[in-house]
Amino acid sequence: MNVYIVFAHPGKKSFTREVLDAFIIGLGDAGHTYELGDLYDMNFQTDMDLAQYKRETGLDPDVPVPEDVKREHEKIERADALVFIYPLWWSDCPAKLKGWFDRVWTYGYAYTYDDTEAGVHLSSKITIKKALVICPAGHTAEHLEEIGIAESMRRVMMHDRLLGVGVKEARIEILGGMVLNDETNRKKNLERAYRLGRDL
Ligand SMILES: Cc1cc2nc3c(=O)[nH]c(=O)nc-3n(C[C@H](O)[C@H](O)[C@H](O)COP(=O)(O)O)c2cc1C
Repeated sequence: MNVYIVFAHPGKKSFTREVLDAFIIGLGDAGHTYELGDLYDMNFQTDMDLAQYKRETGLDPDVPVPEDVKREHEKIERADALVFIYPLWWSDCPAKLKGWFDRVWTYGYAYTYDDTEAGVHLSSKITIKKALVICPAGHTAEHLEEIGIAESMRRVMMHDRLLGVGVKEARIEILGGMVLNDETNRKKNLERAYRLGRDL
């Protein structure tokens, strides 16, 4: 498979970066190819401007899709699978990635409302078979389950942002327990990141 990895962390040295590296080694061992979209490195624009807002809301549908957004669409079209790797920040993804969804999931690409006799039908041009979200977190995955945050992550990231735009299969893996940079958890999580790549 060819995988588009969307990566959102500002640091070159971070646990999230180590997760990315381990995941990529696993992907290679399984014979997969990948393209990396490092959103901070790319200085990806995450604020939607007024022109695009008008396009997305239908106030001015003739506004063209921005060139950087088109390039993201092309990377997605070249991929069979989409992988997101980012740290859990305030129970969600970093704003850098949230802005990627705001701008890249454009009307006419990620979703279109078709008026049919049976009512309004939602369609998408996204043909990705598989998506995987890998999210390092300070809290343990068990704690995030207990307090309802893991479920909110699944609802928003997996159901709304992925399955909701036509991705066929999606899952989230929380690599938790990193609050004190615990060495045992670090090792366990990096082995898991490797296996997630190898077994994608
Ligand atoms: C701004 C910020 C917000 C955070 N919010 C959460 C949170 O809501 N829940 C959580 O479990 N961990 C939270 N964390 C901890 C990170 O998810 C955790 O340290 C993760 O392993 C990323 O580490 P890294 O920055 O070394 O890649 C937060 C960290 C930062 C910097």
